[in-house]
Amino acid sequence: MSRIVFLNGSFLPIEEARVPFMDRGFLFGDGVYEGIGVLDGRLIDNEAHLERLERSLREVRIPNPYSRAEWTRIQEELVQRNGMTEGFVYFQVTRGVAERDFFFPEEARPTVAMFTQAKSIAQSPAAEKGIAVVTVPDQRWERRDIKSINLLAQVLAKQAAKEAGAQEAWMVQDGFVTEGGSSSAFIVTKAGSIVVRPLSNAILPGITRRSLLQLSREDGIVLEERLFTVEEAYEAAEAFLTSASNFVLPVVRIDGRPVGDGKPGPVTQRLRQLYLRMAASPALAAE
Ligand code: PDD
Repeated sequence: MSRIVFLNGSFLPIEEARVPFMDRGFLFGDGVYEGIGVLDGRLIDNEAHLERLERSLREVRIPNPYSRAEWTRIQEELVQRNGMTEGFVYFQVTRGVAERDFFFPEEARPTVAMFTQAKSIAQSPAAEKGIAVVTVPDQRWERRDIKSINLLAQVLAKQAAKEAGAQEAWMVQDGFVTEGGSSSAFIVTKAGSIVVRPLSNAILPGITRRSLLQLSREDGIVLEERLFTVEEAYEAAEAFLTSASNFVLPVVRIDGRPVGDGKPGPVTQRLRQLYLRMAASPALAAE
């Protein structure tokens, strides 16, 4: 069976899905996107992802082509048509197709493209062993709170990480960690509290981050929403990242130095379990 994707109102085999040459997503990176984790065939935290999509579209002034109920119907149908039980649903909305010109086109309608990627999230070697990150300068623009499809800085950051033998880049501005190339960055202090950068235009408001903070509050873990430096991360007891496509992943090396004893720590493992429990239980997720 060929992979089925969604393009502008139709479900079709990926080989038949074509976006016109003059699409502004292709020419300008003029669009926004979302990515949602799927576990047991269910979309995790989807309402919050759709809320963030609505905000991203508003901020860049692209009309939202669908209601929340319509988006959900399309996502669920795509997951079903691909028989996917675990993985990731990606979709993007661009400003549409028009002759190349920087000004917003008057006639164009947004292009909507959605696809699924099957992937093991609940169980993976990365989750068991942890991953390595390297720090790189944060070279992005000033509106990182918008989930823009302009990802060149992240592509370069993550490739640099890969070439250094790591799996993620932690981006740094003025000595402070902003976030991962495609994830939110956390450390755990020796006293056992979680440190994460507060929301601002400098980072994406991660949906997994949001759920994780709620879970840790309920669990009585002390939370410090503040900036942290690279040096503080080197000295941390534990480190981890969160994203829709990985949930919670232990970070066991930063710039080649082991974090703590170089193994996934107890706070990280506890948070991963709490998150998995929430994701596996729709009733908990809806609370
Ligand atoms: N990335 N920060 C950045 C820069 C991201 O690109 C992402 C997500 C996150 C985590 O956000 P969330 O928990 O809502 O997934 C933080 C997705 C997974 C991606 O680009 O593939």
